[in-house]
Amino acid sequence: MTNTTPIAANDSASEKETHAASNSSILPLRVSNLGFKAKGEDLLQDISFELHAGPRTIIMGPNGAGKSLLLRLCHGLLEPTSGTVTWHSNGTNAASMKQAMVFQRPVLLRRTAAQNIDYGLKLRNMPSAKRAQITDDVLNRTGLARFADKPARLLSGGEQQKLALARAWALNPDVLFLDEPTASLDPAAAHAIETIVQTMHDEGTRIIMTTHDLAQAKRLADEVVFIHKGRMLEQTPADKFFETPQCGEAAAFLRGELRW
Ligand SMILES: Nc1ncnc2c1ncn2[C@@H]1O[C@H](COP(=O)(O)OP(=O)(O)OP(=O)(O)O)[C@@H](O)[C@H]1O
Ligand SMILES: [Mg+2]
Repeated sequence: MTNTTPIAANDSASEKETHAASNSSILPLRVSNLGFKAKGEDLLQDISFELHAGPRTIIMGPNGAGKSLLLRLCHGLLEPTSGTVTWHSNGTNAASMKQAMVFQRPVLLRRTAAQNIDYGLKLRNMPSAKRAQITDDVLNRTGLARFADKPARLLSGGEQQKLALARAWALNPDVLFLDEPTASLDPAAAHAIETIVQTMHDEGTRIIMTTHDLAQAKRLADEVVFIHKGRMLEQTPADKFFETPQCGEAAAFLRGELRW
């Protein structure tokens, strides 16, 4: 059965400072004329936007539009073939250390749940006592404490996705990318994931997420970036996007009529 233990309330803002070291934010993120080409095919073209601290951005668009590619390029997992992705603190490895990504299918290490969380903190040179404290904290806050010593790969899909988020949460990232994090989860597990994402947002992490779930997008989005055929057609406040999208493609998408 899916674990739906409620998330513990945030005890204090100062807890944010007790997590991974953070000085200045890596935001804003500036994407300029970004393009990605593979085997001669333009998969993303001429994408430009800026993301500042604060609102939650949901990236929407039909299958194959280029949403996952865009997230991977922003997160640094892929190199653009044209254009740039720049963070406020470029020139150091701070940008990569202050962002995390959660995928549709969680990518977990062949270790226990607790060790999966500990690993990311170790990479950031955190002393072991502090790592243990943060690991306990996020396992408790995500309702996963009872799985601490269980091999991560034996957890259910929903539990694994929660663990992937717990691991990201432990890093207290400035920015969290989520690529359809609830696509294969039941409603209760999806709700638990949304609650964690909302809590991270409330604690100051910048959320950038893709979803095909319109109801979820309406619940979580402050603004929507709409991608179609590798091009960005809109960056619009969420209420406006869902009521009166700027482009015909987005309107057709919202009606479920946009072909891919
Ligand atoms: N490394 C790659 N090499 C070649 N083509 C790729 C590569 N990665 C993605 N593509 C293609 O680029 C397009 C965009 O892929 P992407 O995964 O970003 O779509 P998406 O918007 O996330 O779709 P979905 O909603 O189905 O997840 C697709 O046509 C895909 O086949
Ligand atoms: Mg995708």
